[in-house]
Amino acid sequence: MKKKLVVLSGAGISAESGIATFRDANGLWEGYDVMEVASPEGWRKNPELVLDFYNQRRKNAHTVKPNRGHEILAELEKDFDVTVITQNVDDLHERAGSTNVLHLHGKLFESRSTLDENLIYPIEGWELNLGDTCEKGSQLRPNIVWFGEAVPMIEKAAEITEKADAFIVVGTSLVVYPAAGLVHYVPKLAPVFVVDVNMPELPKRRDLHLVEEKASTGLAKVAEMLKYRFIS
Ligand code: APR
Repeated sequence: MKKKLVVLSGAGISAESGIATFRDANGLWEGYDVMEVASPEGWRKNPELVLDFYNQRRKNAHTVKPNRGHEILAELEKDFDVTVITQNVDDLHERAGSTNVLHLHGKLFESRSTLDENLIYPIEGWELNLGDTCEKGSQLRPNIVWFGEAVPMIEKAAEITEKADAFIVVGTSLVVYPAAGLVHYVPKLAPVFVVDVNMPELPKRRDLHLVEEKASTGLAKVAEMLKYRFIS
């Protein structure tokens, strides 16, 4: 039986692919105020701006590629039963070959009905516009968890984390909850590896390995450590 490896990833893993992180840009994201474009209030105030913001993100996502960090996590599936819990809305983990990805904060390439949250549709191409409606006739919005909204997948993520034999945290500032709280669900005896160019604050625990490097080189080191430890 393969050991269970659980990964919590954030914007930092996509940085080497050329996607801007959130907090490295002082709350301004690609020139936008995050609260204007990623909150229910922002949506109510100016849905066109919100749609345009995500249209630009989607257009950009078509031009970027997964990087070595994403690939290493996909390659770890050869030796481990890997679940990637990502806060990212891009699809770079999947495009690198990861087969088991849980998107805590939603997906850039999906829309959902503003009337019924269970009506979710893929977005072909990159545009979602005012007037695009669900099968019941209501306006579609990006299927993204905005600030102040509930995180529907968090319970499932916590259950998966509770079963981890090893846990990797990569490229997240660990300031946005409930995602940041997942670390507390890792079993006491499981090793935790953290890869980040700027170490986030973490709860104290045994068997904690801090790798202060970019995702690509840092994850290569973690993969070696994992194989040494778990694969004979
Ligand atoms: N390699 C590894 N880590 C990196 C790299 C890199 N090349 N570049 C930046 N980082 C690190 C930063 O040091 C920081 O710790 O990635 C982290 C990015 O943090 P944030 O920008 O806060 O992104 P994230 O933690 O994913 O944000 C969480 O906030 O706005 C919301 O919903 C949004 O999912 C997002 C959530």
